[in-house]
Amino acid sequence: MSSRRTMRPTRAEGSRSGRAVPERSSSSKEGTGDVLERSILVVEDEDTLRESLQRILEKEGYSVRVAANGEEGLAEIRKQPPALLLTDLRMPGMDGLDLLRATKMLAPETQVIVMTGHGTVETAVQAMKEGADDFLEKPLSRAVLLPVIEKAMEKHILVTENRFLREEIERDRGLHNVIGQSPKMRRVLDLVRQVAPTTATVLIRGETGTGKEVIAKAIHQLSPRRDRPFISVNCAALPDTLIESELFGYEKGAFTDAKSRRIGRFQQAHTGTLFLDEIGDMQPHVQVKLLRALQEGVIEPLGSERSVPVDVRVIAATNQDLERAVREGRFREELYYRLNVVQIELPPVRERREDIPLLVQHFIRKYSQRHARTVVGIERAAMRALQNYSWPGNVRQLENVVERAVILSSREVITLEDLPAEIAEHESNGPVTITFPIGLTFEEIKTRVIRETLRQTEGNKELAAKILGISSRTIYRWLKEHPEADPRAAPEEDTLPV
Ligand SMILES: Nc1ncnc2c1ncn2[C@@H]1O[C@H](COP(=O)(O)OP(=O)(O)OP(=O)(O)O)[C@@H](O)[C@H]1O
Ligand SMILES: [Mg+2]
Repeated sequence: MSSRRTMRPTRAEGSRSGRAVPERSSSSKEGTGDVLERSILVVEDEDTLRESLQRILEKEGYSVRVAANGEEGLAEIRKQPPALLLTDLRMPGMDGLDLLRATKMLAPETQVIVMTGHGTVETAVQAMKEGADDFLEKPLSRAVLLPVIEKAMEKHILVTENRFLREEIERDRGLHNVIGQSPKMRRVLDLVRQVAPTTATVLIRGETGTGKEVIAKAIHQLSPRRDRPFISVNCAALPDTLIESELFGYEKGAFTDAKSRRIGRFQQAHTGTLFLDEIGDMQPHVQVKLLRALQEGVIEPLGSERSVPVDVRVIAATNQDLERAVREGRFREELYYRLNVVQIELPPVRERREDIPLLVQHFIRKYSQRHARTVVGIERAAMRALQNYSWPGNVRQLENVVERAVILSSREVITLEDLPAEIAEHESNGPVTITFPIGLTFEEIKTRVIRETLRQTEGNKELAAKILGISSRTIYRWLKEHPEADPRAAPEEDTLPV
């Protein structure tokens, strides 16, 4: 039988491209460790069925783990997500639906097949709605079971390979240097991924130093034009008289100094991307020419009668209030609408403070390397100051401050003394934010909260208990189980590695 071979999978066959299933980067602590290829977790409370499933699947060459209820199953998934979860729906305690929901959060790539008892199709339908990939009706037969399992395995391979390719592409092209995990930045990056493959004009807005040019380059890098030119023009940096010839070029003799013909930026960017920075500063007569270029795809070099066709994707950026400029007649309304097909708003750093530690670590690594320093971390107090500061100059200012600190630092870690005074003085201001990745248990969250509070109070248990609204006895009891969380016992915890 032809299907026999596909039903007897081996590890080598599991990854058809011959590549091992990619490792997940660093997230194993959060409950989603590397996925074992061709591994199945069977969760079934009925002993005989569980055992016979295990026997059948192992005989087919799968690596099988079993659990007798939802809780045990979840613990196994936390340890290591399987490629495939085969779970009963009705179980005492945590049932299959809850296990399904938890699995989809913890290990989105794990394929889930639910098993339903006779006559409980509604639950199966609900499970499919909740994200189950397939379902099997009991009583099970080998002939039905094995093809369903194999189909899910193949889907798992596709899903992981897709993710791997996506990550590889992003690493190579643009997004790996764009730091940001906060909800606002995630939304920005999703939008970047969406618009990049199109030729839509994009208007990027945001305060100074928020990364507008970084995002423009990322869009280009993720677009089919990535191997074509990316040309950047700062409309504010050029005198009004020059901007027009800079953008559109000129013919010999077009004006007194035009000794020879010159190609403009638009033509240089042909088949590529043109980034128009500070678009709000563009003069009205240049705006008219730009509008024509965008609408008709042609430009006219100065002193020329000819229209030159250009294929250019335009990305514009501004930190000005363009709507107001339109109202006041300084910016042409048609151009505004033409540029504003897709708008990306970059949040200021003070609205995404969660990203500060990531940015700081990124810049410490970058400048430690560039300046041949051996800075390997930052003191918690210094990080706190950086997180509390308001950053009017946004990422650029943060980057400069970290670079300076890396250079000044006389130790292997950055301390408060390495920061400018006006930033260092924010060390103890403001509330502390603790963020939790999805997938932490309540116990783990409790641990983080108590640990962080003890850190903030520098190990003062009475104060920590007051802040948390619990008795200091509770804290002492908790510390017996987590002695390493006592800052007074382990003062070196004050340093954050990068
Ligand atoms: N998300 C980010 N991840 C890493 N580095 C960033 C990020 N955003 C900005 N930067 C860095 O911050 C600096 C400023 O970024 P960029 O020049 O893109 O800002 P901008 O918004 O164009 O500023 P301006 O309005 O002053 O022109 C750059 O050195 C850039 O590398
Ligand atoms: Mg800029």
